[in-house]
This record gives sequence, structure tokens and C-alpha cells, in this order.
Amino acid sequence: MIIVDNLTKTFTRKNKKGKKKERIVAVDHINLKINKGEIFGLIGPNGAGKTTTIKMLSTLILPDEGSISVNGYDVIKDAEKVRNNIGVLAGEFTRSLYWRLSGKQNLKFFANLRNMWNADKRIKELIQLFGLKKQENELIMKYSTGMKHKLALAVALLNDPPILFLDEPLTGIDPVTSFQLKKLIRNKFRDKTIVWASHNLYEIEEMCDRIALINNGKIVLEGSPEELKKKLWDYEKIVVISNNTNAFINIDGVEIKGNVVEIKTKDVTSTLLEVSDIVQKKNIKVEEIKTLRPTLEEIFMAGVKK
Ligand SMILES: Nc1ncnc2c1ncn2[C@@H]1O[C@H](COP(=O)(O)OP(=O)(O)OP(=O)(O)O)[C@@H](O)[C@H]1O
Ligand SMILES: [Mg+2]
Repeated sequence: MIIVDNLTKTFTRKNKKGKKKERIVAVDHINLKINKGEIFGLIGPNGAGKTTTIKMLSTLILPDEGSISVNGYDVIKDAEKVRNNIGVLAGEFTRSLYWRLSGKQNLKFFANLRNMWNADKRIKELIQLFGLKKQENELIMKYSTGMKHKLALAVALLNDPPILFLDEPLTGIDPVTSFQLKKLIRNKFRDKTIVWASHNLYEIEEMCDRIALINNGKIVLEGSPEELKKKLWDYEKIVVISNNTNAFINIDGVEIKGNVVEIKTKDVTSTLLEVSDIVQKKNIKVEEIKTLRPTLEEIFMAGVKK
């Protein structure tokens, strides 16, 4: 659905003294293949190149090098066709709404810009979908951040595009609105291909099928959350909390810290059986047993350190 080949973008800006120009390689020869119907997450530190990538994918800025194909169309040669296939929330996207128009008027305005002259039915449908009926005639300047996000997403969805590029779509909105939007995206946009940039790693793990970690404009890790976890630890950890930690001292891969027994194992089932055998035979009181996998945060830290 989306093929990114050797994509590169350099910016120049004046240095602190305002004299010499500095070159910043914001996106540095990245390659990506994003499949139809997939939610693909972009994570990375501030300034890593996520927004620049999304802007190039959505024809908002031109690449210096490399190519991007979106639903079979080239972003440079067929920019107009690409635009017909995508919905975008990029950068400070709520600022692109017209604050002195109502929600409904904004939808109408953007529908006209896209030559959708009979959009009333679609606009009604979107207002319904995003629960904005009560506020449809209110000016945007009176909208809360969550409502502006909903409306911006409704604008992006006017022509029901098969592809969505979402740059921090849930940043700055409350957990309830966030939950509603995630549910909506999961249930109603199941067949859409989505690129989703965010700093919220829980949201990324919850929503994305695959993830790329960008650092200094380069992709340093790519895969499903599951694959990335397996790559970071080729073992799992079993943690036993007990006042009788010495009973477990002979298990392979064990480490004891206070009342915590940590066992690194590649075969969780047999190690768990070993643990339960000891518990039973020695009649030991155990407060908690759990297995641990690395979190996305640990994967992020390890990837950025490389
Ligand atoms: N228009 C521009 N002119 C000059 N430099 C720019 C411009 N846009 C982005 N940059 C620089 O390019 C780099 C990548 O920025 P980008 O906004 O893509 O990062 P990001 O991963 O989206 O960061 P954040 O998590 O903070 O949103 C940064 O060093 C940034 O300062
Ligand atoms: Mg950004």
C-alpha cells in the first residue's frame, strides 16, 4: 500500500549566531513497506524525523531524494491522486481549522475545497460518528482540544480515504476522549491503512500492528511489538516474590534480590513447573508469581542508545 524507498530530507537553518548555515538531515535514507489494512506506528525522540516523514508521505513537503508510492501513486508525479487517497493530521493540525466558523461550517468549507459539492449526507454522518451533534453549530474557538481533534479527524475523513496519516492524533486529549477515538478507529476504520506517530508508547502498542523506531532520521528498529520484544530479550523472566527465596537458589538462571527471585528462562513452562514443584514439596508461602517481557519503553531506550 505504501512503499518508501531511500527517502531523505535535509533542512538548512542558520546557526545560533545567525551567520553560518547548518545542514540538518531530518530524514536519512529510510525504507519502509506498509501493508494494506495495517496500523503502522512511528516512534522516536523529539526531532527524530517523524513529522517530516509524515509530511512527505502526505505531499505536504517534497523529498530531496528517494521515492514514495501511496496506493500505487508517486507522491511527486501524482501528488493530486495521492491526496485523493489520504486523510492527514500533521504537525499542529488543529490550527488548520477555521476558528471563526462552526464545526459544521468547517466541514462544509473543506468539502467544497475538495470539490465535494453534495457532501451534506457525509457531513451529517461524520458529525454523528464523532459525537459532535450538540456542538455542530458552535464556533471552533469555543471547542475543547478533544473536540478539535475529533473535528480535524472528521475533516480528514470527508472523502472516506483508504489511507490515514496521523501525527500525534491523541496528544493533549483526555483519557475518555482518547478511549472513544481509539475505539472508533479500531471498529470503524478497520480496513484503512494508517501511519500513526506518537510518543505515547502504550497507545502505540495498543493500536499498531508494526512499529518503526526512528532516531536521527534513521530507522533503527522495525517489527511487530512482539518481534521487537523477542529481539531485545531472547528469554523471559519469571519473578517469584517470597520470604523463602533460598528454596529457589538451584534453578538455572536465578538471581535473588531481597524477597524477589528472578529467573531468566527460554522455556517458561518447564521453569514454572520447576518453581511450583519446589513450592509444593517444600511447602513455601509465595506472595506472587509473574512472567515478565520487556516493555516498549525498554525497546525504545535500547534502540535510541545504539
Ligand atoms: N521547516 C524546517 N526547517 C528547518 N528544520 C526543520 C524543519 N522542520 C523540521 N526541522 C528539523 O528536522 C528535524 C526533524 O524534525 P521533525 O519535526 O520531523 O521531528 P519529530 O520526530 O516529529 O519530533 P517531535 O517528536 O518533536 O514531533 C529536527 O531537527 C527539526 O528541528
Ligand atoms: Mg513531530
